[in-house]
Amino acid sequence: MEEQAALKRIEELRDLINHHNRRYYQLDDPEISDSGYDGLMRELIELEAQFQPPIAQFQPPVDVNIYPIASDTASPTQTVGAAPLEKFNTLPHLSPMLSLANAFSEEEILAFDERIRRLLGTQGDVSYVVEPKLDGIGVNLVYEKGIFRSGSTRGDGAVGEDITQNLKTIRAIPLKMSSAGAPPIPDLIEIRGEVYIGTDAFRELNRQRVADGDNPFANPRNAAAGSLRQLDSRVTAKRPLAIFCYAMGFVDPDPSGFQTHWELLQALAGWGFPVNTHIRRAENIGECIAYYREMTDRREELPYEIDGTVIKVDSTNIRDRLGAVSRSPRWAIACKFAATQATTTIEDIIIQVGRTGVLTPVAQMKPVRVAGVMVSRATLHNQDEIDKKNIHIGDTVIVQRAGDVIPEIVKTVGPSAKSGERPFRIPDTCPVCGSRIVRLEGEAAHRCINLDCPAQIRENIKHFVSRGGMDIEGLGEKLIAQMLDSGIVRDPADLYGLPVETLAGLERMGTKSAGNILASLERTKTPPLDKFIFALGIRHTGEHVSKILARRFGTLDAIMNAGEEELLAVKEVGPEIAGSITTFFREPSNLRTIERLREAGVNPVEGSAVSGSLSGKSFVLTGTLEGFSRNSAKEIIESLGGMVSSSVTKKTDYVVAGVSPGSKLEKAGQLGIPVLDEEAFLEITGHSVEPEKGNQGRLL
Ligand code: IVH
Repeated sequence: MEEQAALKRIEELRDLINHHNRRYYQLDDPEISDSGYDGLMRELIELEAQFQPPIAQFQPPVDVNIYPIASDTASPTQTVGAAPLEKFNTLPHLSPMLSLANAFSEEEILAFDERIRRLLGTQGDVSYVVEPKLDGIGVNLVYEKGIFRSGSTRGDGAVGEDITQNLKTIRAIPLKMSSAGAPPIPDLIEIRGEVYIGTDAFRELNRQRVADGDNPFANPRNAAAGSLRQLDSRVTAKRPLAIFCYAMGFVDPDPSGFQTHWELLQALAGWGFPVNTHIRRAENIGECIAYYREMTDRREELPYEIDGTVIKVDSTNIRDRLGAVSRSPRWAIACKFAATQATTTIEDIIIQVGRTGVLTPVAQMKPVRVAGVMVSRATLHNQDEIDKKNIHIGDTVIVQRAGDVIPEIVKTVGPSAKSGERPFRIPDTCPVCGSRIVRLEGEAAHRCINLDCPAQIRENIKHFVSRGGMDIEGLGEKLIAQMLDSGIVRDPADLYGLPVETLAGLERMGTKSAGNILASLERTKTPPLDKFIFALGIRHTGEHVSKILARRFGTLDAIMNAGEEELLAVKEVGPEIAGSITTFFREPSNLRTIERLREAGVNPVEGSAVSGSLSGKSFVLTGTLEGFSRNSAKEIIESLGGMVSSSVTKKTDYVVAGVSPGSKLEKAGQLGIPVLDEEAFLEITGHSVEPEKGNQGRLL
């Protein structure tokens, strides 16, 4: 980038980030996602490094009178937040509250360690302490002769908001430090920690708010921030705020000259401050990375939200030698979990035609990284969703990856260029075959009703060969499109009996690949019955229902001949599923395809209907079972004729609850469904458990 353009962009970014800082830190009402913000900050840091003389660095301010953060330039890279809100008094910190530099990948964590070793001039391992990074509100607590005197938010790092009265309402914060078994209490000390609301308490708080007609909080962090910023501390007192302490600011006199951070943490605990129990010592950076990976996996198990881990050099002496750059210490780094939300723009909206003719609008977005994966497409579901979210091509949107797979658009942000215009409209004709599009009464979806629509045929074949269905290797989307375009295949039955030379004649297809595909088709001619049923693509009949049907009826003929009433007698089958199954098997073209498949030698493996002690019973599993894995529990239930579902409904027979059960347990309570603990579950299944090492057991 040219210097002139870069300087302009730097100014722009500073203004923008200052604006977002205010939205986030002062108003608790962010306009962009965290990763959108991080992206702006990174861009600014990089540009400043390239186009500006390096920012004046300072040595760690152990001196009470130095507030270097507020000095220097007005760049947001030099500060850690925005000025405090006017409604609270301000309170200067005795020593600055620094922020942490971020690492977003394992490479960046390694680079952090390398930099430290380079600065120290050592080849050897550096010892660290690793901590969960709580997603809460950082606070500073001042104790004079062991008595809690005042407390504040971080503010701009030098001056915070005086929230003493509110902090006093948090029971976890000692009003008087304890002296038993800990180092002597200093005359004056600042303790730093994170105020947060646990996930269960958060859910309950929101439940109450909704019941009282108030708006629920968007997340625990907002709830904690909103609660701390109450002018009336009686309101704060009713909020389930908690705290973990993790650092010390100013101290006089230094009681022990702590040699390590670890010793400080022990002292904090000894003085009566809550210290996170997941904090550990790490001998080297490899162990820090292992911890980061472990926490990434265990994040959901924790009863509070964390957004990463923090690595801190353990030795106080080394910390002093490393010092800080103005925004953050060189001896610590926040290892952020990949963001699950990001901001981007919609470049186009395309219409996909599905297997059943349903039109799905899909947003094509400017590629953005979400939870470690580049995302450029997200479904917009249907016209109602588009209208509800007021979506246009060109809008700026927040995308998130729900759970871990499908990206979705949460909402539009900022003023849309077209906000006055009508939201995007699904067209009246099919973009593939040009047929008329209809919207059936009571349905959200628009459909192309031409059964010969090439898009529908293609999707049907894709579904047929997919892993959950016939699981035919090598038959990908492109090849299917080629087969259809060249006219050698019109429905799934055509796949069988294709001469090798016809297949090999397709573009980019040699005799060898053609042979492999035919071999794969041959190999999969005797699929399990449930996979075959699923492969047929009957509406509302997914893998779960297919399994139930196969288990219940045993043979394909039995399923094909089952009347609506017989189907309805199966617990998981409601009128909608029963209707679509009978309709499917009444349709002559479907019967012909099945007949042709059979003639080609495709014969599902049939059995007899399973019956067992749990026959027809439906189970939902929640929480962690200590004796065995979720999969083994599922296998046991299925082997006895029962079924496992993922959500609790009126049709659920039992909920099996392990350790830390989720909201499913609550739901069971509401619906009056019997809950089995692990022991009761073992009893009704007639199994016993022999525990292995730790809490992992094996079923006998
Ligand atoms: S240490 C100079 N440890 O994250 C280091 N901070 O992004 C001071 N945070 O301002 C902070 N968990 O509000 C530290 N275990 C932890 C933390 C933690 C959460 C917050 C804190 C800090 C922010 C930096």
